[in-house]
Amino acid sequence: MLNLQEIQNRAQSLQREFEEALARVETLNDLEALRIRFLARKGAIPSLFDELRTLSPEERKQAGKVLNTLRDYAQREFDSLRSRLSAPHPAELKIDLSLPGRRRPFASLHPLTQTLRDIKRIFQLMGFSVAEGPEVEDDYHNFEALNFPPDHPARDMQDTFFITDRVLLRTHTSPVQIRVMEHSRPPIRVIIPGRVYRNEAISARSYCLFHQVEGLAVDHHITFAELKGTLASFARQFYGENLRYRFRPSFFPFTEPSAEMDISCFLCGGKGCRVCKYTGWLEILGCGMVDPNVFEAVGYDSEEYTGYAFGMGIERIAMLRYGIEDIRLFYDNDLRFLEQF
Ligand code: PHE
Repeated sequence: MLNLQEIQNRAQSLQREFEEALARVETLNDLEALRIRFLARKGAIPSLFDELRTLSPEERKQAGKVLNTLRDYAQREFDSLRSRLSAPHPAELKIDLSLPGRRRPFASLHPLTQTLRDIKRIFQLMGFSVAEGPEVEDDYHNFEALNFPPDHPARDMQDTFFITDRVLLRTHTSPVQIRVMEHSRPPIRVIIPGRVYRNEAISARSYCLFHQVEGLAVDHHITFAELKGTLASFARQFYGENLRYRFRPSFFPFTEPSAEMDISCFLCGGKGCRVCKYTGWLEILGCGMVDPNVFEAVGYDSEEYTGYAFGMGIERIAMLRYGIEDIRLFYDNDLRFLEQF
């Protein structure tokens, strides 16, 4: 039996003993021994609580306060030392700091993106801005305003993905010519990159979607000579100074006259090889002077303005440039292919 004073003295000396023991703890085993000695149910601190029973209620309250404070203090010290001892020592982490780091794969731009950026940069330096339009188009912008006759084969289900009678996936970027002219007045110099869709049998040479870059220039006194000069300058910057080129007559409903541009094969220099199919020439784009009917459709005076337009397929240009033989590779997302660019 201890009286109040004795309990308080005992609590004080217990705290000192606890602190001394705590200071000697080095391992989790030492700590467990300390817990058993002081904090466990039969340990020194809980046992001291038993002494409270014989005190008067008044004294019990006083002594209880002291013992609670001691117990909480000891428990806190114990907890914090335990978490310090449980954390792995740096030497136990088994990290070999001399090992080289793990390499993260570096992403690169898709070859189509790279090709498109190069094309854009060249035309932007020549004063062209960039416009875009919707991939889901109506018949009017994709065909009618571009002077396609009602019975043109492109208007057939065989070649075009129709959504309804009058709504379709655009088959070329030319409808954006119409949209640009509907919303602005000359002078116009824009290029229009974007996806286009055609209902074709999928093969190494054709896919159900691909990309084009359209060009449109409208102003007073624009001539075919300017068209040739602009495209020749583009081709030299893109393919190299020594390039030769030629324009062959062609037909598009929305240009008159129309032409296709060929460049001398940059692989064989024009001598003939597999890439140019032994012709020495590569066809790279379609072009022509804007047909007066197209100007009428957008409310431009075809007596006042002239213009030219051109369109090229980005896949074809990238395939020629990098020697890619199958168009589907652009859409497979196969890292073995993409990592080469
Ligand atoms: N839109 C044509 C095509 O898809 C290309 C073109 C564009 C031709 C502009 C002339 C002028 O084949």
